[in-house]
Amino acid sequence: MRGIILAGGTGTRLHPLTKAVSKQLVPVYNKPMVYYPLATLMLAGIRDILVITTPDDQTPFRRLLGDGAQWGLKFSYAAQPSPDGLAQAFLIGEEFLRGEPCCLILGDNIFYGVGLPVMLREAATLTDGALVFGYQVAEPERFGVAGFDAAGNVTSIEEKPQNPKSKFAVTGLYFYDGSAPALAKTLKPSARGELEISDLNRLYLAKGKLKVRKLGRGYMWLDTGTYDSMVQASEFVRSVETRQNVMIACPEEIAFSQGYIDRAALIAHGNAMKQNSYGQYLLRLAEEAP
Ligand code: G1P
Repeated sequence: MRGIILAGGTGTRLHPLTKAVSKQLVPVYNKPMVYYPLATLMLAGIRDILVITTPDDQTPFRRLLGDGAQWGLKFSYAAQPSPDGLAQAFLIGEEFLRGEPCCLILGDNIFYGVGLPVMLREAATLTDGALVFGYQVAEPERFGVAGFDAAGNVTSIEEKPQNPKSKFAVTGLYFYDGSAPALAKTLKPSARGELEISDLNRLYLAKGKLKVRKLGRGYMWLDTGTYDSMVQASEFVRSVETRQNVMIACPEEIAFSQGYIDRAALIAHGNAMKQNSYGQYLLRLAEEAP
């Protein structure tokens, strides 16, 4: 399975913070935001990843992420000239995907939870249909919302509904089979002028091929669409990391634990930042590794 991180958009909701810097590069505590969705893909075992940014942001993203080899990954880059919707990722990424199944993750979505790695690995075995995740939120009308029948099967997907059919938002993590680009091509722009991911999901739903898996209360899903939710995300990461002395979404650690890089590489990464707690953490991991 191949991965796409969609990190386009103008970030107007966070101006002036994101006027000169891509939203997905701003800090969430001690890491650039894009590290969090990247870590999610890595935990799913996905190593071949297309990073889609605005044309202006290609350079800073490449500076941060490089070609991925430092973490045993392979990054490709593409530009989204204007923010014409999430489903456009499949038009831009069609060639990269080569007809294979794909996981699309939004560059500003943060997932955390004890069962996450197992759940992601299982999701990454998908070859037919689509799988998305529902998460109970206080304000479902801000998101795509899934409706369910009494048996818990998904019956509707609506984008930012005024009267949501449930409290379950559809998160920005989507697994699709190889037909996503072909289906995305049939979509028409919505009233807000975008190719909506909810419309793509509805196409799968109409074919009886959409699964919505609910993430229970033990999971944390954070979006970072407002100043407050940005601070909340940083506070959440800081709380977990300082209390437990473990890092959330540390690509070097995940690469090491999955066997993508060896101990010497982990030490080299640590030494490059040994003056701060990030680098010291990597050096400690290397020391404690069997
Ligand atoms: C987008 C999707 C929405 C989804 C959300 C998750 O919303 O359109 O369905 O629930 O991401 O972050 P947007 O950020 O475009 O408002």
